[in-house]
Amino acid sequence: KPIVLSGCQPSGQLTIGNYIGALRQWVNMQDSHDCLYMLVDMHAITVRQDPKALYNACLDGLALYIACGIDPEKSTVFVQSHVPQHAQLGWIMNCYTQMGELNRMTQFKDKSAKNVSNINSGLYTYPALMAADILLYQANQVPVGDDQKQHLELTRDIAARFNNLYQPTFTVPEPFIPKVGARVMSLQDPTKKMSKSDDNINNFVGLLEDPKKITKKIKRAVTDSDEQARIYFDTAEKPGVSNLLSLLSCATGTPINELVPSYEDKMYGHLKGDVADAVVSLLEPIQAKFATLRNDQTELDRIMRNGAEQAQERAQQTIDKVYKAVGFIPKP
Ligand code: AQP
Repeated sequence: KPIVLSGCQPSGQLTIGNYIGALRQWVNMQDSHDCLYMLVDMHAITVRQDPKALYNACLDGLALYIACGIDPEKSTVFVQSHVPQHAQLGWIMNCYTQMGELNRMTQFKDKSAKNVSNINSGLYTYPALMAADILLYQANQVPVGDDQKQHLELTRDIAARFNNLYQPTFTVPEPFIPKVGARVMSLQDPTKKMSKSDDNINNFVGLLEDPKKITKKIKRAVTDSDEQARIYFDTAEKPGVSNLLSLLSCATGTPINELVPSYEDKMYGHLKGDVADAVVSLLEPIQAKFATLRNDQTELDRIMRNGAEQAQERAQQTIDKVYKAVGFIPKP
């Protein structure tokens, strides 16, 4: 089976963007692929986190993975910091990544513009750690939203470079980007992506939010000033409406081109109402499952322990290969 690896940052509550762009695909790949899904807490601290909030977001994230349909009996589910091999390979990847390459990363530019008081070197070298995450498990495929495509390209370049310099050591991974919902946009500013750590909480829908709040946020979503309130899919002309259509399509499973005709004589308010209902129904069973599991610390501990053990065993095999390739002496 092809090996798949992906993860979310516990840098806040996971959003409907994380679900549509990532988790939903992860669930679908579990039978056909050998999947590893992690919570990347080490990536999360590239932006200042409140320790208590990070701790809770990590446990919430783990319970949400399972509530969304990730099955720890089928997939390896773990917390990144529980597997020290990520830090070990991360350092080595830093030494095989060029500053020029990192300078081109748009996520660094965006995030450093937003966090001017804390532009730390971890934020800058984030893509090298991400390369380590992926290459440690010899992943063949990495399901990512559109926004992570550039980082994955860099991972491929680093892997190929290392393989060429020494001996074939890493599998060069392929991106796997969903066609619909690859990028869920912010509700108030639909030209930028929805982010869990957005300062404006009206920009995102958290997976654990109260249905009433979700409905309110979606009903307040920005559309446009088209007097005829025409509803069609065009991300350049109608970013807000297109985002709502894409959300509705993802939540109901109906293709966008089949949705559009039914809104011919309708107003934006109708569309928003339907999107809100669809998102709330989609999240209802997830929230119910989450509530049970999140209160069962013994079960969460068991999942984390097993996942970390399985992941470590696999990761160590790559570390051994890499240490040998660079010329480190094996510990006698
Ligand atoms: N808006 C989005 N639409 C589609 N996919 C998305 N993903 C994130 N946002 C969207 C996908 O979710 C996975 C995990 O992302 P992440 O948590 O590692 O970090 P991120 O991409 O930086 O997500 P956020 O929500 O924007 O986090 P913050 O605000 O902390 O930076 C990835 O596969 C990503 O593509």
